[in-house]
Amino acid sequence: MSLANNKDTSPLKSKDFGENFVWGVSTAAYQIEGSHNKNGKSASIWDIFSSKKGNIYQDQNGTIACDFYKKYKEDILLMKSMNITNFRFSISWTRVLPNGVGEVNKEGIAFYNNVIDFCLECNITPWVTIYHWDLPQILEDKGGWANREILEWFSEFATVCATNFGDRVKNWMVLNEPMVFTGAGYFLGVHAPGKKGLKHFLPAVHHAVLCQAKGGRILRKLVPNANIGTTFSCSQITPRSSKKKDIIAAKKADAMLNRLFLEPSLGMGYPTEDVSVLEKIEKYFKPEDKEDSVFEFDFIGVQNYTREIVKHSHFVPYLKAKIVKATKRKVKITQMDWEVYPPSISKMLTKFDAYSGVKNIIVTENGAAFNDVMVNGEINDEDRTAYLHDYIKEVKKAKEQGVNVNGYFVWTFTDNFEWAEGYFPRFGLVHVDFSTQKRTMKKSGHWYAKLIEL
Ligand code: BGC
Repeated sequence: MSLANNKDTSPLKSKDFGENFVWGVSTAAYQIEGSHNKNGKSASIWDIFSSKKGNIYQDQNGTIACDFYKKYKEDILLMKSMNITNFRFSISWTRVLPNGVGEVNKEGIAFYNNVIDFCLECNITPWVTIYHWDLPQILEDKGGWANREILEWFSEFATVCATNFGDRVKNWMVLNEPMVFTGAGYFLGVHAPGKKGLKHFLPAVHHAVLCQAKGGRILRKLVPNANIGTTFSCSQITPRSSKKKDIIAAKKADAMLNRLFLEPSLGMGYPTEDVSVLEKIEKYFKPEDKEDSVFEFDFIGVQNYTREIVKHSHFVPYLKAKIVKATKRKVKITQMDWEVYPPSISKMLTKFDAYSGVKNIIVTENGAAFNDVMVNGEINDEDRTAYLHDYIKEVKKAKEQGVNVNGYFVWTFTDNFEWAEGYFPRFGLVHVDFSTQKRTMKKSGHWYAKLIEL
């Protein structure tokens, strides 16, 4: 195992993080559940987007995925055998509200009740994300996140989640990575629903900011003793050179990738001073929106995988900033072509912790995809084990330096459907043979189980 990036060579021990530090694994409904049209579930934007040729690696989809819908007991038992005491999963909107709003699907509610109850039976605490990207297609047909009516639709969905599961679920995350679902889904068009351009992106951003806070308020009202958070993707941004142009480009990228959704929730508004195009959001702004964007979250979910090197580019509209691909930088990369750079996570934790409104931080995702090879039924994924080790060590460093970080969740439990990349990147602690659905714990899974053993 390479410890090259770490000066601290003492062995990593979970007890050094303190008794109240939570250790877990993270997942998302569309990436694991399958049973895409069973028991009343309707189509989400991911069902539709992945059914269209050319959108996903080898035209794959989440129709079956890891078959978690049928295998949830087996998977939760496997978690238990791995000493995992916290399980983050999301609620599929189209399973519980097939029409997006209106009639609640009892079978959908029953499924999540079963998952929650079985977790509790196994002494595993459920951490629920309300929205992890699978908007009902029926709502997308009306404009989806770009339509202000999403505020009402989302409120209804959040209310259904809170009232049905809030008696047993106390840890909640309102949205998963709004920058990714608005940026990739409504600006670049590489994720569902495949929309492109500012006219979709800017209203989607603004409505996601409002829903983020609205969801928080709904949970606060309906769930006694709730621990309410929301999650943000983030990457350390480093300018390619010390040239002024590159430094400005890096600042803009940082505002977009790391600040855009957090700052409005803290009452700071959008980072328009660094990214002037965000001023155009004004068009979608109602007088009450600044105040309605604010919510005092109990925790912020930090999701970090890599860092980005950014340079000035005249050809990139609005931002004039461009990411220098890790594949061109002769650095160690994962199957996602992301640089392995453990200090990025401590930098981001320190950055988020510096906001006075951020009360508590949980790393709600961190992990890596590598080309796992099975030899004699075993997967000796040293790369992933080293990655997790080195990143967790950076979390420890941040904590020792006073950052209020109190949890860590690996992305992810089993190999699963990795959005536009399909089943090619394998992120799991547990290998899945997608032709038989057989689970095989990888070396990293054994390692994590040992790390978090009480
Ligand atoms: C998302 C996950 C995704 C992971 C790895 C995050 O952006 O929340 O759904 O699978 O990163 O790409």
